[in-house]
Amino acid sequence: MTYEQALRKLSEAGQQHVLKYYDELSQAEQEELLAQVEQTDFSVIRLPDGKQNGLERGEISPLKAMQLDEIMDKEKYLTQKGLESIRAGKVGAVLLAGGMGTRLGSDAPKGVYNIGVTKDLYIFECLIRNLMRVTDMAGNPIYLFVMTSDKNHDTTVSFFEEHSYFGYPKEYVRFFQQEMAPAVDYNGKVFLEEKGKISTSPNGNGGWFVSMDRSGILDIVHETGIEWLNVFAVDNVLQNIADPAFVGACEESGCMVGAKVVRKANPDEKVGVMCLEDGKPSIVEYYELTDEMRHQKDENGDYAYNFGVILNYLFRVSELERIMSHELPLHIVEKKIAYINADGNPVKPEEPNGYKFEQLVLDMIHDMETCLPYEVVREKEFAPIKNKEGVDSVESARALLEKNGVTL
Ligand code: UTP
Repeated sequence: MTYEQALRKLSEAGQQHVLKYYDELSQAEQEELLAQVEQTDFSVIRLPDGKQNGLERGEISPLKAMQLDEIMDKEKYLTQKGLESIRAGKVGAVLLAGGMGTRLGSDAPKGVYNIGVTKDLYIFECLIRNLMRVTDMAGNPIYLFVMTSDKNHDTTVSFFEEHSYFGYPKEYVRFFQQEMAPAVDYNGKVFLEEKGKISTSPNGNGGWFVSMDRSGILDIVHETGIEWLNVFAVDNVLQNIADPAFVGACEESGCMVGAKVVRKANPDEKVGVMCLEDGKPSIVEYYELTDEMRHQKDENGDYAYNFGVILNYLFRVSELERIMSHELPLHIVEKKIAYINADGNPVKPEEPNGYKFEQLVLDMIHDMETCLPYEVVREKEFAPIKNKEGVDSVESARALLEKNGVTL
């Protein structure tokens, strides 16, 4: 793309300031910037409209979960069923590790965070250990597809290499990169990360299947006959990956996706809960539930909206392919975005200073015809690390790991 073409594209998008330092750049930097302008899709940029930015809700009604008592009754059978599928190579795992973990405040990928106390224990290591509990039981490895982004790909791959994949067979671990989107200030102007670089950030965790396709990873899924993909977040160190009973339950249910859920601590807990929206599975945020809905009970006297999601889903591959061409909604997310200021100096904000644009995996649930919410014990399977301190922090995750017998 030439300078003139770039200027035209930027002017149409109201982003001419991107070329402010053009004359100060070396020739190579100028070429890189023009290439970046060419690749960037400025049409994703929007500002909050005070309503719901086109993400209006349909009619919400309850969706029943498979609860612990039922799961315990059938556990042996479900586990055997799931193990058979795992042994037959029908299950793959997808680790969503493309996020920037801005709340944790480390520049490194979240998975390389060391949560050990008396010894090293990395988040990635915890996850691999959890996965190996299952593959040891099954007697064979499964594919682990790791989604990274432009921001953390190289560091993530080298980290796995340096640690010999924490004992997991390397040939079963494949990395792929997600797409990026521009990040803007509160006026919708894209930030510059450097004088010759537009600030971009990963475009959310919803594009993982499309990115698997674009990067050629989906070929492995097809060639090896994987029928189920277990997608999970990097930041839950108690993540139970490819859980055989969960696999067995999803298969038996005939549902297109399974979602691991935990019982709400109280009706007012601020978590997104599973529901039906216009008759299809969905997740409703706590602030979207009326007081009446929060306290609504079902015929057994249990709260009707009682199960929160923990970002561990088991998707049927054939169903993912069916919905692949559906565009997911784009969410405007307020975040801390590093940028260079008017004097050209880098700034790392302490507070949110603009918007990123993200597609979310939870919106994929609504594209599925049927979903099995599957209850798990919160203290055994949910120890998210989002913040430095306090709720969902390194500290709280450490306490939960210790409760589960992990030496730190
Ligand atoms: P979060 O929503 O917690 O986002 O991600 P984050 O970027 O990691 O953290 P903050 O909000 O900036 O502090 C939930 C899961 O989705 C992945 C994350 O890596 C994590 O596993 N994710 C998030 C991606 O893979 N890509 C993204 O673009 C965003």
